Amino acid sequence: MKTILIINGPNLNLLGTREPNIYGALTLEEINRRIAREAEALGARVEFFQSSHEGALIDRLHAAANTVHGVVFNAGAYTHTSVALADAISATGHRVIEVHLSNVFKREEFRWHSFLSSVCQGVICGLGWKSYVLALRALLMEDDQE
Ligand code: DQA
Repeated sequence: MKTILIINGPNLNLLGTREPNIYGALTLEEINRRIAREAEALGARVEFFQSSHEGALIDRLHAAANTVHGVVFNAGAYTHTSVALADAISATGHRVIEVHLSNVFKREEFRWHSFLSSVCQGVICGLGWKSYVLALRALLMEDDQE
């Protein structure tokens, strides 16, 4: 059975109350429930991790090396600032899909650049909680469907 790791970065623990006009009204717990439901339907396992600390996110990526099939990663604002997270993705060789709830390209210019995209398999943004579910599905598709 494939295991997919779902990682959420800074401030995403506040979903539900955090700028719901941008990020939606669902809490992170509710989003994770929907992801878990989808994973179960697809016959996969999911693990969840959230931290607002860059080093903790890096440590989690290291710990998951060679133990998970893929990673769905919403790095929050670190997306736009962190060379260290990009290096952690490269160093571990994880298959990562970068996700965002909001469409970052509709927003402030500083959100248009991602340090992570170039080391990720793909990027899904702007679809709210569905961004996570679509990333999960993509990671679980067989390679010959690529
Ligand atoms: C975000 C977009 C980022 O620009 C922002 O800093 C976040 C959330 C999103 O999911 O839309 O914290 O990653």
